Amino acid sequence: MTAIINIVDDDADHLSALCDLVETAGHQVRAFGSAQAMLAALPDRADMVISDLRMPEMDGLGLLKALRARSVSLPVVLLTGHGDVAHAVEAIRAGAEDFLEKPYDSAHLLSVIRRTLDAQTARNEVARLQQVLAERDKAAILGASRAMRGLRARIATLASVDLDVVITGETGTGKELAARAIHADSARSEGPFVALNCAVLSEASAETILFGHGAGVFAHDAGGRAGKLEAAHGGTLMLDEVETMPPTIQAKLLRVLQERMVERIGETRPRPLDIRVIATTKKPLRLIDGFRSDLFYRLAGTELATPTLREAGEDIPLIFAHYAQLAARRYGRPDPEVPWLLQQRLKRLAWPGNVRELKASAEAYALGLSEISGGSPASGPAPAQAPGPATLADRVADFEAREIAAVLDAHGGNTLRAAETLGIPRRTLNDKMRRYGLSSDQGAAGGGS
Ligand SMILES: Nc1ncnc2c1ncn2[C@@H]1O[C@H](COP(=O)(O)OP(=O)(O)OP(=O)(O)O)[C@@H](O)[C@H]1O
Ligand SMILES: [Mg+2]
Repeated sequence: MTAIINIVDDDADHLSALCDLVETAGHQVRAFGSAQAMLAALPDRADMVISDLRMPEMDGLGLLKALRARSVSLPVVLLTGHGDVAHAVEAIRAGAEDFLEKPYDSAHLLSVIRRTLDAQTARNEVARLQQVLAERDKAAILGASRAMRGLRARIATLASVDLDVVITGETGTGKELAARAIHADSARSEGPFVALNCAVLSEASAETILFGHGAGVFAHDAGGRAGKLEAAHGGTLMLDEVETMPPTIQAKLLRVLQERMVERIGETRPRPLDIRVIATTKKPLRLIDGFRSDLFYRLAGTELATPTLREAGEDIPLIFAHYAQLAARRYGRPDPEVPWLLQQRLKRLAWPGNVRELKASAEAYALGLSEISGGSPASGPAPAQAPGPATLADRVADFEAREIAAVLDAHGGNTLRAAETLGIPRRTLNDKMRRYGLSSDQGAAGGGS
């Protein structure tokens, strides 16, 4: 791809000579007579800036600072007059890529340009790879239960097609995780993943946030700005909590999704839009009063439901252990033990906040910050004691409970025969079962699933 170089100089003759030189070297140039004019053209793609240092109103240094203030990391090369060394030093401190003293040597200038563009390409590549890796990392979906295996399979299927998706699930069940996983495994994985929480969209703000605005619409942002839709171009847009989207915005969004074109506010030229929409919702959309059915049908061809921990109860110990270990490692602590008895107890607790709550609980446990606080027990007797550090007594109890559960299982829950096998009186067995929260039908009371 040809590099686009913005060239800024208030002297028209210098400007055109410089443009000719750079263009002849095979680059694409855009000429600006002032720093302000260049700032106004910022939304358009550019790869570097060459600017004169001394200009009336805003000088080259001012331009550089204005770019950085807007978090634009375009490399800037400044051309300084003779004796401007002090300014040049300041420019480098402010983050200029390089400076050349005028009259510059053409060959030298072209080599500075080439080096700058190469360095910029390398920086972009590193940033892109970091982004891809971060997305992959975030997207590990744990669980061996039928529910979680089903979820992973469905994600793989959805990643292989390019259709819009609605993800439905209770809070903390991994809707965002699933959306990121679909993106990361899809053909769009190297494109952006943009998340937009619809709950923050008011009727007044929604349009500019979604569609952006053209140059000159707002005094405070005169250059114009891309909206979230455009920011997701080439990638995936997650519309989080889509059920909260105001009805008027639903209508506008529907049109964009049908036409795959977006018009910034105040512009009349629509821009093509290549995005995939993944909407998430806590309530099934068809049950939501005021959700447009046409938008619903537009999105709902491909649905994905994330399971609650009630449906994936057998995964509770695994997910807990995983996040406890991650937290411990993050703080340089030894891997925490998750004794069997604690695992059984975790399975018996209700987790209204689902994996998010379980994760928070695991982290607190790993760091010794709190006792397990997974809501209220879903069933069975209240857990006898909090899981302290693994003392000998704890370990013995854990071993004993596990043995008893296994023997009970082997005898189909028959306590008489289990007591025989264990060589203890039946009454003693009943006492121990009560203490450990074991029931005769499932080994562990409730079992969680
Ligand atoms: N199956 C899973 N395996 C591992 N981690 C998971 C799983 N499901 C969810 N998580 C983790 O639980 C946390 C909550 O997940 P996420 O933010 O995706 O939930 P959500 O459904 O979007 O919740 P909300 O509706 O409250 O926004 C995240 O840290 C996520 O990584
Ligand atoms: Mg979420």
